[in-house]
Amino acid sequence: MKEKSSFSGQLGFVLAAAGSAVGVGNLWRFPYLVAKDGGGLFLIIYLVLVLTFGFTLLTTDISIGRKTGQSSIKAYATMRPKWKFLGVLTFVVPALIMTYYAVIGGWILKYVVVYLTGDFARAAEDTYFTEFITNPSSVWFGLIFMLATAVIVYNGVEGGIERCSKIIMPMLLFMVAGIAVFALTLKYSGGNGVVRTGLQGLKVYLVPDFTGLTIPRFLQIILDAMSQLFFSLSVSMGIMITYGSYVKKDVNLNRAISQIEIVDTGVALLAGVMIIPAVFVFSGTEGMAAGPSLMFVSLPKVFFAMGAAGKYIGLLFFLLAAFAALTSCISVLEAITANCMEMFHTERKKTTLVLSLIYLIATAVIALGYSIFYLEVSLPNGSTGQLLDIMDYISNSFLMPFISILSAILVGWLVKPQWIIDEMESTGDRFYRKKLYVIMIKYVVPVVMVILFLQSTGIWS
Ligand code: PFF
Repeated sequence: MKEKSSFSGQLGFVLAAAGSAVGVGNLWRFPYLVAKDGGGLFLIIYLVLVLTFGFTLLTTDISIGRKTGQSSIKAYATMRPKWKFLGVLTFVVPALIMTYYAVIGGWILKYVVVYLTGDFARAAEDTYFTEFITNPSSVWFGLIFMLATAVIVYNGVEGGIERCSKIIMPMLLFMVAGIAVFALTLKYSGGNGVVRTGLQGLKVYLVPDFTGLTIPRFLQIILDAMSQLFFSLSVSMGIMITYGSYVKKDVNLNRAISQIEIVDTGVALLAGVMIIPAVFVFSGTEGMAAGPSLMFVSLPKVFFAMGAAGKYIGLLFFLLAAFAALTSCISVLEAITANCMEMFHTERKKTTLVLSLIYLIATAVIALGYSIFYLEVSLPNGSTGQLLDIMDYISNSFLMPFISILSAILVGWLVKPQWIIDEMESTGDRFYRKKLYVIMIKYVVPVVMVILFLQSTGIWS
């Protein structure tokens, strides 16, 4: 039999998994949530959740992958044949995310081009982003992004994914740190003579803001932090099961998991240092309430206000975001590809070709959801969405919490945590957070995830 594909070693695995985890979630979603949810208050809650929930779910996914050597559908079927349905559900998440992730990648690509061609004053206009996405020609950017993803996955685990992550991830870390330091040196005096500095902005970012804090509001912040955590670590969507299945048996998973947590959280924290002080300096605290439009509408304004330097900083920022999105997009396509290869016994190149074709079409349809296929649907969580939001809602707000409830029940109560612990200790290393793991997977994860699920589906609000 052909030898199974694998990462060359611990470093290759950690960089590829961190590449999946670090994405638009870190660079765009995390900073706007911090701004919205009380600065340091959100940070503290998020850090606690990373060390408890994040660690538990990442450990579960990666251990299932390495122990079974299979992707989600077969892996869950191996654990308990009756639970194959959970594998299928898990497979649906990347299959849905893939329809729109390249669309967002395409938007970022567009901004790279804008900053390259020096059109950055136009990008700072209020209507620029909406005009762009509602024009059907925006489809091309998504298609190019999808194609780039497909080429890398086509080249396999070590030659494609690992090689690309080993180049991109160190560059990305370096760029985030560089822009973060630059953001702290900013200074701007608004029309009314008030001077705002980057360091003041850092204070806004780090100091917990308790004004108007009520219990429901506090719960809302916890829920925001929790769904951010899932999205950011790429857990409960089969991706880390697939990546885990490529890890060699001699890799110390304890260390690798800690490193993935540190890189993902570190980049999110630095992205905050890079964005919040900059937005504060040029737009004040009002500018920070931008919400989702932060990346494509508020930031270009900040770059424009920086003057000549803004053109280069803007270019660097969007390049960085494009790289981050690419390594995440690769992991989504890889999870789908690996499941299909196992299910249909097909080889990688043919599988990638067929899937690429399907997803090029899907990317085009979703991208056209803002023009030709425009529609408005009320979602159960109270928001109104277009095609992209519908896919995002089903995968992230509905399926992901549901899958983690079922997965915690399966591992915590049927297969038993010892099954995971054995894998974590199979190299002879100690699993330091073993007790925490058992309590989390048996009791805390199922209960809290049920609450999150009821809340995000609008059943309980
Ligand atoms: N973890 C990625 C981020 O933080 O942007 C996002 C992501 C990647 C979500 C892969 C889903 C996914 F399947």
